[in-house]
Order: sequence, then structure tokens, then C-alpha cells
Amino acid sequence: DLLQPQSLMLSGKTAIVTSGPTHEPIDPVRYIANRSSGRQGHAIAAALSRLGAKVTLVSGPVTIADPAGVTTIHIERAEEMRDAVLAALPADIAVMVAAVADWRVASSADQKIKKQAGAAPAPLELTENPDILKTVGHHPNRPRLVVGFAAETQNVEENGRAKLERKGADLIVANDVSPETGIMGGSRNTVRLITTSGSEVWPEMDKDAVAMKLAHWIAERVEKP
Ligand code: CTP
Ligand code: CA
Repeated sequence: DLLQPQSLMLSGKTAIVTSGPTHEPIDPVRYIANRSSGRQGHAIAAALSRLGAKVTLVSGPVTIADPAGVTTIHIERAEEMRDAVLAALPADIAVMVAAVADWRVASSADQKIKKQAGAAPAPLELTENPDILKTVGHHPNRPRLVVGFAAETQNVEENGRAKLERKGADLIVANDVSPETGIMGGSRNTVRLITTSGSEVWPEMDKDAVAMKLAHWIAERVEKP
């Protein structure tokens, strides 16, 4: 629609965004988690909303505020995140930014596990968590545009491209999260966009700027027949 103001390119569209870490309980006081501030995912939810989309944000435990104008669902575990994402389908757009814990404790304890004097700690038996991006990418109700992130510390392009294919995504936003880049927990990001037709690197910018540029990238593609 040529009369549609540029600022509301996504009006009438729905989007699901995941953000933050998941916490996988060991017992009532301990958990396993990935590092994630939620800054990039929350900024993307806010940016899609600014372009007019109706956004559901499914967030793990973070210290930052819920973005204005977005429906935010708070979860802790990967299985809860998966359930909330599936409950939000159908949608036009899915952007999975969360740093989902790859494993959970096979049977978490109902009571706090106590140290035993002189005894070795009990080993933790882990089991794999559901892959939410892969589930959405291969879902019968698959969103028109499915976007994943790939946090890598090496072979960014190769690993990102493998994820694009394995998970059935249209786009992988890959970034190098080696500690020396300072990306994890920081406010800036350098990303590489990987699609089946190629790849492009965006210059380093603010996570908010990455979010707005990505929201425009998405808006341009979700419109096309
Ligand atoms: N992802 C997900 N559910 C999982 C694991 C990952 O939805 N259980 C999503 C992330 O939100 C991200 C993408 O998949 O969009 C890639 O996550 P990443 O951790 O980089 O990929 P993995 O497949 O878990 O591979 P690995 O950690 O071994 O590199
Ligand atoms: Ca992972």
C-alpha cells in the first residue's frame, strides 16, 4: 500500500520475539543458564512494535524493563518458553533471540540439595531442551518470516549457515560473542545476516540501531508476495 506511512510498515502484522536466557532448575535455589542480558531481543520487540506490528515478547529472567506497547510473557524454563511461543501462533513474523539453555537437569530436586561432608558432589544428569527456533521453522503454522540468532565464538559464517538450514529459518543473524568483542552484556553489536542467497555484514552499532535496521529488513520482506 503506497499510502501506508513508512513508520507503520508492519501495521496489521503479528510478531513473536524470544529474549533473555532460560533458567533450568537444579533444585529450588540453583539453576543452569546461558549469559544473556535480553537487550538485543527486547530492542527488536520494541522496534517491530514501533513499525506497527502487534508483538508478543516471550522473555526469560532479565533485569531490564518490559518494552512499552508489547505484550510480554515472563517464563523461566525452555519448555515454558516453547509453550508460550506455540500458544502465540499463528503469527506473521518470529524472531528467536533468546539464549535458550541447551540442556536441563533430567530430574530437578524438589528440595534443596545439601552438601554431604567429605563426599563428592552428586553428578548432574542433563537432557536436551526443545529447540524452539527449529520447532517454529518446521511448524505447520510456520510464520511467513522466521529469524534466528547465532551466537558464535568462531567460524561465524559457517556455523550460522548450518543453523539456517537445520532450523528452517529464513534468516540467521550471526554475531561473534568472543569475550574480547564485549558484545555479551554490552550495548553494541556487530552482526552478519545469513540467508540462503548470501550474507552481509552490518557495521558495528548500538543494539537499538541493529534492532531498528532489522525491523526494517523484516518489514520489506514480509510485505512481498
Ligand atoms: N534456539 C532455540 N531453542 C534452543 C536453542 C536455540 O530456539 N533450544 C534458538 C536461539 O534462540 C537462536 C538460535 O536457535 O535463535 C541459535 O541458537 P544457538 O544457541 O546459537 O544454536 P544451537 O542450535 O543451540 O547450537 P550451539 O549452541 O551448539 O551452537
Ligand atoms: Ca545453544
